[in-house]
Amino acid sequence: MNNHDPQYILDLLAERRSIREFDGRPVDDTLVDDIIQDGTQAPSSCNHQMWHFVVVKDKAVREKLQKISGSNKHFTTCSAMIILTFHKGWNHNKFAVVQSSAAAAYHMSLSAHVRGLVATWNAGIGNKNKVAALLNIPKEFEIVGALCIGWSNESIEFKKPPRRPLDMIRSREVFDRPHSARYPLKPSKEYQYHHMQNHAHKYSEFRPAAWGWDRIADFRGYAVSAKSPLSGTYISRRFGKEMDVEVGLLPKENVGSVLELMPYGGSYTMKLLRAYSDGVTISLAPLSTFNSSFIVERGHKEGLDTERIDAKVWKDGILPYSDDSFDTVFVPQILESVPDRAKVVDEVWRVLKPGAMAVFTARNMLSWFGLYYQLRAKRQQVPNFGPYVPLISLHVKKYLRSRFRIIEDGGISLSPKKAGVIEKGWKKWFCRLYTVTVMKEG
Ligand SMILES: Cc1cc2nc3c(=O)[nH]c(=O)nc-3n(C[C@H](O)[C@H](O)[C@H](O)COP(=O)(O)O)c2cc1C
Repeated sequence: MNNHDPQYILDLLAERRSIREFDGRPVDDTLVDDIIQDGTQAPSSCNHQMWHFVVVKDKAVREKLQKISGSNKHFTTCSAMIILTFHKGWNHNKFAVVQSSAAAAYHMSLSAHVRGLVATWNAGIGNKNKVAALLNIPKEFEIVGALCIGWSNESIEFKKPPRRPLDMIRSREVFDRPHSARYPLKPSKEYQYHHMQNHAHKYSEFRPAAWGWDRIADFRGYAVSAKSPLSGTYISRRFGKEMDVEVGLLPKENVGSVLELMPYGGSYTMKLLRAYSDGVTISLAPLSTFNSSFIVERGHKEGLDTERIDAKVWKDGILPYSDDSFDTVFVPQILESVPDRAKVVDEVWRVLKPGAMAVFTARNMLSWFGLYYQLRAKRQQVPNFGPYVPLISLHVKKYLRSRFRIIEDGGISLSPKKAGVIEKGWKKWFCRLYTVTVMKEG
């Protein structure tokens, strides 16, 4: 093979990955310019080349950009950012001007990769008006995102996120696509693209039953790679405190086997690995192997013993474990995200050992969060962790009681200011999370 072998070049390009851990070493202006120059080789509609790129190397400014974005630590650790903008006013047909900027951004990503650097693409830059004010970007230019340029600082090489198989994303002659990869929207005569924004979505379908197990599994399996499996990933700044409280409800004495249902990015799993000693197996029932492989990579990154993880895919609601297997089962904020709650409750009962306890937590419609859900959340796009409908605390207790003995119940986060605070008495019915510890009677 030589450097002109097409397969060599294609293989090299296919190795490009998004990296979110950089070593921060300074990058030459000429190198950044070369990358941008390469980007301009991309096609553009009508050859307008309406793009404009603002290079930000100043760390103090990147720190401000990071604050505006609300997360993205990598904005501060990379060597430079290229802010992607385009000139508004022309060629909006089929978003051609956006498509052209994207072509340039991808070409820059490839150029960086071939040169041994990384260019991680970010549309999640936060309030673009604040970004515009900070960088003096005029109103007639639209900000579409940013490339973080630099060198990888990954002590552990992460795998590239999975790609959908060809048969799923390519059809011949006429459109055809498997059911699992066609996600539901609310029934409508037509779907107006402009009415489907993250924060205002007219057609989003939040009912898990309308999705079914296969589509929820497919969606969550690919979407988990929206972030890298790094420490702290998928821990909400506001609700992170709740997770410790939820894990704290699990029995710890005489427990040799724990099952966590439907993990997503591993935030609970990491806490379980820390909460239980070395001999305890942490079994997982993810909907997709992509969730468990992400979790294992994350565990490595957090320095945890991932050999203790035993993951088997949970398909069509039937848990892949035998009867009477576990000393405890953890069902954190899952009942409101599944197509068939009764089946889940039955399955948890089946796999629990007689006399063993399970902990269920559920987002509660009878709470400030329920109000937020009705007024805001369900009018937005379905989040990457999948569709959900908060439940009514009283109903949760009722149907858990039909299967189990209730040991204890409570509430967490009566108000946003009381995030993570446990409530008992009447207040428990009105918290964001309703929690129930149950026992399978022997
Ligand atoms: C238009 C676009 C926007 C993206 N926005 C973000 C983002 O805001 N934050 C982030 O961490 N990654 C972002 N990414 C990176 C994707 O998460 C990443 O490309 C995807 O998970 C596939 O991984 P890979 O690039 O390593 O192949 C974006 C990628 C594209 C193309």
